[in-house]
Amino acid sequence: TIQTVLARRIWDSRGRPTIEVEVLNADGTSGLGIAPAGASRGSREAVELRDGGERFGGRDVQQALAGIAREIAPALVGRDAADQAGIDAMLIALDGTPTKSRLGGNALIATSLAVLHAAAAQARLPLWRYLAQGRDVRLPLPQIQIFGGGAHAGRRVDIQDFMVIATGAESFSQALEMTAEVYRAAGELMQERGALAGVADEGGWWPSFRRNEEALDTLVAAIERAGYVPGEQVAIALDIAASEFGHGGRYRLALENEELDSDGLCERLVRWVERYPIVSIEDPLAEDDEAGLVAFTRAVGDRVQVVGDDYLVTSAPRVRSAAAAGACNCVLIKPNQAGTVTETRAALDAAKALGYATIVSARSGETEDVAIVHLATGWDAGQLKVGSFARSERMAKWNEGVRLQTRPAPPSGYAGRGALARRR
Ligand code: PGA
Ligand code: ZN
Repeated sequence: TIQTVLARRIWDSRGRPTIEVEVLNADGTSGLGIAPAGASRGSREAVELRDGGERFGGRDVQQALAGIAREIAPALVGRDAADQAGIDAMLIALDGTPTKSRLGGNALIATSLAVLHAAAAQARLPLWRYLAQGRDVRLPLPQIQIFGGGAHAGRRVDIQDFMVIATGAESFSQALEMTAEVYRAAGELMQERGALAGVADEGGWWPSFRRNEEALDTLVAAIERAGYVPGEQVAIALDIAASEFGHGGRYRLALENEELDSDGLCERLVRWVERYPIVSIEDPLAEDDEAGLVAFTRAVGDRVQVVGDDYLVTSAPRVRSAAAAGACNCVLIKPNQAGTVTETRAALDAAKALGYATIVSARSGETEDVAIVHLATGWDAGQLKVGSFARSERMAKWNEGVRLQTRPAPPSGYAGRGALARRR
């Protein structure tokens, strides 16, 4: 039984306030949950409760902490942490708004994750094994950023994530080894061109490029310099995050100084798919451009993974309507978009039931919290995205995967390239 619930303000990887909740069980075990924070958010995500005003750029979380102390903590005391569904339903009812804006999606996800951790601790199991419930589960295929752009790099380039997937790796740790070499080679290439300028929000190299395609060319060159065959051993994944530069079917590529309509952006991306060894594209069109997403999925969904992030916002109902429309073939799963563990799981289950691939994902604002590695593994999501291969809020997650792989009684295997969506 839950005896005590503590909530405190801690600080995320951008030095901004965030919420940590600690749930203490009567048996002496406990669980810790932390809310991450996005920068390129979907408009239908659970709403973060921030104080506004001047302090910390308006991002303080005192109201959300007060709500936990005043309403959530008293309602949790005496309950069994193992009743995740019951507790999450109670949190949703307590908040009472469709967007979780009253108590805050950040307060709810930190609480929900803390309860989950407390339940695993109470069962004396590592979180991933607690979630697996005796089923065989696999370590996920990592999707790792090499250049960070968009909202994570002062919009220096339009495209947000230039990533790699080590499709040739036979294990999680080998995928990290291969990515480490590509990341290093990309840094060397930038240095040689006099374009090395530090890293972006998620640890990817700062994108000093003249055109978006120059980033793709440099990525291919980095894969080759690292000694890998592009497309065979190491492939490219992109997060266009098109909602950041397009609305109402109009897209503005600032770097190219071009305005494209939905068909134009679609054609541009199809051309990239034909010219570059791309295996995955996230949010190719804006969240409000369903027709564009359907058209793009029709055009390349048999060859490329088409991922919905801002468009699907980890929502089971939205996944179902996307499937009915024929948009995307893979769902990005971010717990704080949904606001509770149970709703996150429901979105993942809906995706799997409809034949969609799934990627559990971190946010651009992260912490030392490694829960998502356990979610991706224990839920057998198949893929994991946590940003780049630098900065400890990212490396903590990759390193946790190595621990899961190398401890006694590890997950039963590695999802590998077979986890990628290929068709719908
Ligand atoms: P965000 O970006 O966490 O800033 O929203 C991550 C993503 O778009 O996948
Ligand atoms: Zn995204």
